[in-house]
Amino acid sequence: MSSPAMQVPVGVDFGGSGIKAAAVDLDTGDFASARERIPTPQPATPGAVLEVLVDLMTRLPEATGPVGITVPGVVRHGVVGSAANIDDSWVGTDADGLFTEALRREVHIVNDADAAGLAEARYGAARGRQGLVIVTTLGTGIGSALIHDGVLIPNSELGHLEIDGHDAESRAANSAREREGLTMAQWAERLGRYYRTIERLFSPDLIVVGGGVSKQAAEFLPLLDLETEIVPATLLNRAGIVGAAYYACR
Ligand code: BGC
Repeated sequence: MSSPAMQVPVGVDFGGSGIKAAAVDLDTGDFASARERIPTPQPATPGAVLEVLVDLMTRLPEATGPVGITVPGVVRHGVVGSAANIDDSWVGTDADGLFTEALRREVHIVNDADAAGLAEARYGAARGRQGLVIVTTLGTGIGSALIHDGVLIPNSELGHLEIDGHDAESRAANSAREREGLTMAQWAERLGRYYRTIERLFSPDLIVVGGGVSKQAAEFLPLLDLETEIVPATLLNRAGIVGAAYYACR
């Protein structure tokens, strides 16, 4: 017999090109279903994303628990507070309220990097680590999660640190490497400057590097000259979905 505590949660990863969802097994941090993907509508307004969510939920009929959704912006109490790389109409939207009412089930949104950070802290590269862990995601922007003794301090937004007069992510995100055709060595110089700034400001015990490019960590992490231990993320493209589902059930 199923009880609310046994309902399987769903994680949704809202990205620039695709919206991906899967049921999640919170004991193991693995998917409990196939991963479903629908291309991100353009423009990706809250209303357009809601239609995609309705479709995704019908594809995961077994998972009836809470839904966690990543958003690439600041999230405070379910309300989106910034939109660096998403449609401006998200700002001020009470997404928890809107989606919970429309899907008739509990929905919680969470910053994308915070979700990845929670997933790495619970199931991945930072599992069991005490002290201050900083998880960064290198993608279109730079996302960050601050986790102290396993507790998330949300919305750190360290991709927007101003370094040498620039928004850090405009120079050091993976999108900057691709846009400017930088070699790994050239990009690693910028990353080194970025992570040394983080080191100086926060004195973390561990830095975790996530985002799709972390698959190539062996090509750039050894080039960084840091005092802090720095390791690649281990959940890779599962981190957003798993972290969002975990967040929704906390
Ligand atoms: C946003 C963050 C987000 C990061 C990664 C930044 O531009 O401000 O909220 O976590 O990109 O998507």
